[in-house]
Amino acid sequence: MDGLVQETLEARRRIKQYVYKTPLMFSDPLSNLTSSCKVFIKLENEQLTGSFKIRGAFNKLMKLSSAGDVIKQKGIITASSGNHGMACVEAGKTLGIPVTVYCQQNVSEHKKNVLLNKGVRVVLHGVDCVEAENEGRASAEKQEVEYVSPYNDIYVIAGQGTIGIEILEDCPEVDCVLVPVGGGGLIGGIARYIKQVRPSVEIIGCQPQNSKVMYESVRAGRVVFEESLDTLSEGTAGGLEDNSITLPICAQYVDDWIMVTEEEIGRAVVYMLQNHQKVVEGAAGTALGAYLKNPGRFKGKRVVLIACGGNLGIQTLKQLVSMYT
Ligand SMILES: Cc1ncc(COP(=O)(O)O)c(C=O)c1O
Repeated sequence: MDGLVQETLEARRRIKQYVYKTPLMFSDPLSNLTSSCKVFIKLENEQLTGSFKIRGAFNKLMKLSSAGDVIKQKGIITASSGNHGMACVEAGKTLGIPVTVYCQQNVSEHKKNVLLNKGVRVVLHGVDCVEAENEGRASAEKQEVEYVSPYNDIYVIAGQGTIGIEILEDCPEVDCVLVPVGGGGLIGGIARYIKQVRPSVEIIGCQPQNSKVMYESVRAGRVVFEESLDTLSEGTAGGLEDNSITLPICAQYVDDWIMVTEEEIGRAVVYMLQNHQKVVEGAAGTALGAYLKNPGRFKGKRVVLIACGGNLGIQTLKQLVSMYT
């Protein structure tokens, strides 16, 4: 069996006692937007720490722990736009591993405050997440401690891939999965597992038009360095680490890409609140917005949308509600 599929199954066994199996919620209103379509939403916004990131964080930190106690003394360094940092801190608390988090200077205020309120050591560096990542990695090398990438790591990817296992368990007839993409750990894990087990399932990557580095990198066949504009989907925004292992995985397994505007993301977040009484963050709005943009494309299909996170600040939520209701 493919190595990463095996690793995904192992990740499931490793993290099962620590993370939720999130609901795959059927959405009547979304399904009714086109004929013979059934839409399900994977509610990772209801996951521990408010996003799927806890899956990869636990898998990686448990793997590091299994090598001995030195990790507990030294701790780890990671870099994050917020959610992966929160997830590493939570996993670190359970496993007794101290965590330092590098974030870009313009990290979401809401996510930064969640980290600071937990007493986490946060280092702010650069304006793009990839600058914080490079600095975090360099600092870890200098101090000879482990660096945990938010996506460029086989164990992190395998942890996120456990979502793929749950989707096939709960909706074996799925035709199509829409996944928000930043560094590509989430889609990489899901796609590599599902394509191995059910190759006919279509995997669609969703990104904001304002920041679509993975999409452009797949097109170019190498990591491209392009500036990202501000986006409501700050969780997926920014550049990609050079030689990222998620790039070849996306190039091989992602069938199609849909880009969404800021308005489409904002309206999707409000749609979830109005129709399902769920708060999702902008990153989740990319997958929901990609479906809402053109439901007719999914006629006759069983579609899964990944609601990857729910960590949205109250001010942003207030603004979106006032703009789109
Ligand atoms: C809520 C949310 N969704 C999606 C992503 C993108 O995940 P990945 O970098 O694995 O593509 C992130 C990354 O931080 C995130 O926080």
